[in-house]
Amino acid sequence: MELCSLTGLKGKVSVPGDKSISHRCIMFGSIADGITEVRNFLQGADCLATIRCFRTLGIDIEEKNSAVIVHGRGLHGLSAPNDILDVGNSGTTTRLLSGILAGQSFESKLSGDESLNSRPMKRIIDPLTQMGANISSILRNGCAPLYITPGRLHGIHYDSPVASAQVKSCLLLAGLYAEGETSVAEPSLSRNHTELMLREFGADIRTTHALDSTKATASIRPCRELYGQKITVPGDISSAAYFIAAGLIVPDSEILIENVGINPTRAGILKVCEDMGGDITLLNVRTEGGEKLADILVKTSRLHGITIEGDIIPTLIDEIPVIAVMAAVAEGTTVIKDAAELKVKETDRIETVTDNLKAMGCNVTPTSDGMIISGGSLKGASIHTLLDHRIAMAFSIAALVADGKTKILDSKCVDVSYPTFYDTFEHLL
Ligand code: S3P
Repeated sequence: MELCSLTGLKGKVSVPGDKSISHRCIMFGSIADGITEVRNFLQGADCLATIRCFRTLGIDIEEKNSAVIVHGRGLHGLSAPNDILDVGNSGTTTRLLSGILAGQSFESKLSGDESLNSRPMKRIIDPLTQMGANISSILRNGCAPLYITPGRLHGIHYDSPVASAQVKSCLLLAGLYAEGETSVAEPSLSRNHTELMLREFGADIRTTHALDSTKATASIRPCRELYGQKITVPGDISSAAYFIAAGLIVPDSEILIENVGINPTRAGILKVCEDMGGDITLLNVRTEGGEKLADILVKTSRLHGITIEGDIIPTLIDEIPVIAVMAAVAEGTTVIKDAAELKVKETDRIETVTDNLKAMGCNVTPTSDGMIISGGSLKGASIHTLLDHRIAMAFSIAALVADGKTKILDSKCVDVSYPTFYDTFEHLL
């Protein structure tokens, strides 16, 4: 994909359904009793991998009148797969599904693409093993492919060293099949879609976020059954982030992004943009199915550098590539700290972001847990995405304000979370 600078992005867009929520609708719907009907499901490669896995586990999932219909078979209704479960590029599929599979009476194997099979799985293998699960890394390198055989699970309290919704959700899902209570504490609150949605499905879930402590805890007790739901997935704030950034940094722009999920555990980017001086207004704020939504109006603004650190990091972890792009054209210096988790995403995003920013002429220094970015101007370059969807999209936004042409290599990787990303621009020109 070749892109060059432009001005005056104007109009309304809506972004596809939230990736995290779309995955969970399929998973929870599959182990619930009855039908789960999902509207605005994200048809991205990651969520399609989740559908593929549950079909392999015997669940009938169909598309009807633009909804995805999951014919749930109950907590114990999955059947033994006759093939290895292909999780593609999706960390969420791998880690959440492992929690469910750990509680089944059959054995299974999961494997993904090269990037997925190099991401850390010890973070779920260790606590699942403490719960009595039999899960191992087939190559004994702490990564997928994973092999899971039946085990008798019992609840534990797990003090997670990382704020990770995938680890938390994996253990809560295993907790559905465990004897007694399972609880997970995390250093700061990660996205809470599992807690909100499992409760809607009828699970016995409790959460505490003590004001006098930085720890957040979620606990679950096994229940007899979950109940199918009707869900409309909100627009994904992680996808909206590219148009928020475009609206703020492309001269003479005004963009309205409709129906975006603004769950506080996901909405850190809104605060960061405001702190950087961005003109952002939330319109029509409402709550649907336990999730907060709004239309987001952004206007071109003069941005300045800030420090981004601490508890806000898990609430914007996937948006850091595009935040870094905004910082690269803001006035002054932006420091991003406490974000070592970036190293274990689809690529090492400290490296992929800083290498590509440098290629565009930015003065940026990678650190052990983030980066330091001196704002200035950008020039067109060839962007090495390393097949990371968020790098492709973040640097497509950088291209809109860079001097000269930018080539996004392997831009097709946007299919992972936003197959229609490049088409959305058509609405703004
Ligand atoms: C996700 C959790 C986050 C996020 C990922 C989706 C989820 O990962 O980066 O894109 O749906 O639970 P971690 O749990 O590894 O932080």
